[in-house]
Amino acid sequence: MSTLTVPFFSTVEDDLQQLEEKLLQSVPVSHSTLGDRLRLLIQAGGKRLRPTLTFHAGRIYDADPERILSVAAGIEMLHTATLIHDDLVDNALERRGVTTLNAAFPMGLVVLSGDMMFAEAARLVAEADHVAVIRSFARALSEICHGEILQAQSKHTLTSLEDYYTRIYGKTGSLFRTAAEIGAMLGTDDPDQIDAMSEYGRLLGLAFQIVDDTLDFTSDAQHLGKPIGHDLREGILSLPALLYHADTPSLHGAFRQVVAGKATEDQIAETIEAIKRSGAVERALEIARDYARQARRALAVVPDHPGRQALIELTRFAVARDR
Ligand code: IPE
Ligand code: IPE
Ligand code: MG
Ligand code: MG
Repeated sequence: MSTLTVPFFSTVEDDLQQLEEKLLQSVPVSHSTLGDRLRLLIQAGGKRLRPTLTFHAGRIYDADPERILSVAAGIEMLHTATLIHDDLVDNALERRGVTTLNAAFPMGLVVLSGDMMFAEAARLVAEADHVAVIRSFARALSEICHGEILQAQSKHTLTSLEDYYTRIYGKTGSLFRTAAEIGAMLGTDDPDQIDAMSEYGRLLGLAFQIVDDTLDFTSDAQHLGKPIGHDLREGILSLPALLYHADTPSLHGAFRQVVAGKATEDQIAETIEAIKRSGAVERALEIARDYARQARRALAVVPDHPGRQALIELTRFAVARDR
């Protein structure tokens, strides 16, 4: 499925085209090999969901298109920077079907490249010259780091579900929230409208991350552009593993080794199968669908507009996607 055949993308096709140009122009070029790698990562086919949220939210409130474009590019640049650092932290070797920066460059260079992209993201958002938007952006960046730190600290630990939801809000819900909220902020001062968009983005982000966590069990590497089973291999115990554990609390066999970070590849495969067979992946998906429903409900107060319809469709895509 090409992304542009999906209505919520096709209605902002021109915006997305401009976004691609702006993102590529904004990649720091001073280091040629690294610059080429960063451009390759941008061109390698991300779904552009977060800027799509910003475009639709901005359109609904009739915001200035130039300012929407700047903040949408800032949001995608921030997302790209978080992926660079996330892959380093997660020891991931493949992203969007291409080799990660950390697989090709020393750690120091990877950290600094990510930092450069963070700075570029802030510069893009600042182009809109809107203090509340910049505040929202800064908050998201801080919350993402918080979520990633919580995750790093909870490796090999079967945390409570509450802690899991706190982590995924930080990692992912927060940026979806900001992406939707700042589009609205550029076009309206009405706090009820801005709150509705924030809440929509937050709930959609939670649904999106839960689905990402299930795809790590059910998809395949070629389709996903990143290897599956990676979370378990890294000791990251996401919703399917936590639900599985809640049903079978005594830790034994392959799962015990996985939790301890001592599993062989066969034990990881065995654990993936056991978790799938238990119905825990399907239950996680049901929870994601429930968040998607709540996200649609948050849009009840938003004016009738094609952009609102697109945001509704996006909630369906987020939970039905296979990549
Ligand atoms: C990947 O996000 C990181 C998560 C929050 C799960 P996406 O799945 O949106 O990544 P791209 O941008 O499409 O590659
Ligand atoms: C990534 O979450 C969230 C951020 C980049 C902040 P994941 O670690 O689950 O994303 P993938 O699976 O590597 O894309
Ligand atoms: Mg990761
Ligand atoms: Mg993941």
